[in-house]
Amino acid sequence: MDKSKYGKLISFEGIEGSGKSTLAQELYNYLTSQNYNVVFTREPGGTILGEKIRELLLDENLEISDWSELFLFLASRYENTKNVILPNLKRGYIVISDRYLDSTVAYQGYGRGLSFKIIEMLNSISTMDIKPDLTFLIDIPEEISIERIKKKNLDRIESETIEFYKKVRNGYLELAKNEPQRFIVLDGSLELSKLKEEVIKSTMKLLGGEK
Ligand code: TYD
Repeated sequence: MDKSKYGKLISFEGIEGSGKSTLAQELYNYLTSQNYNVVFTREPGGTILGEKIRELLLDENLEISDWSELFLFLASRYENTKNVILPNLKRGYIVISDRYLDSTVAYQGYGRGLSFKIIEMLNSISTMDIKPDLTFLIDIPEEISIERIKKKNLDRIESETIEFYKKVRNGYLELAKNEPQRFIVLDGSLELSKLKEEVIKSTMKLLGGEK
């Protein structure tokens, strides 16, 4: 199949409370309103198995060791890639994913300290070597993140320490620095309307007016 006919994959990344899920949804709504063919997915999740894995991963009453956590995220990603992302890209759809492979490097690599080399290898399998065409990193300081999520019931990963968030945030920024052509870093403390405008602008640039 001619890869130039593939749709585009756009991912959203950031620490908790950054507003990335809202922006991902806003982009989906915008593109749909403009008659683009677009699907929305998320990780962990996106498939029936993936959503079950998500429940396990976020269960605050469950203890999960670091490597098992990694394997669960990867299992969810492989299902999502094979059953949702790849088939939709192949039929020319735009796929928006709320989190993708960079989350694993940021959280399990920088956050938990697992081997980057092994994560890279396993990410390559779980994504079937598909990389996002564009990744929005919605960056906020870890203090704001903690402040924003404080009011809700925290899930297993949200209950982590501020030091953990700091490592994850810095990890994301490092990733963005290493791949400036793929990443757009946005300041998550800006107003939502401004952020939305930036997201739409960069996406339209990527799509180049094609429908
Ligand atoms: P989610 O509720 O989607 O968090 P958010 O609303 O902040 O996106 O929960 C996903 C959690 O899983 C989040 O804390 C980040 C974490 N995560 C990883 O640690 N590794 C991964 O590979 C992925 C996809 C998510």
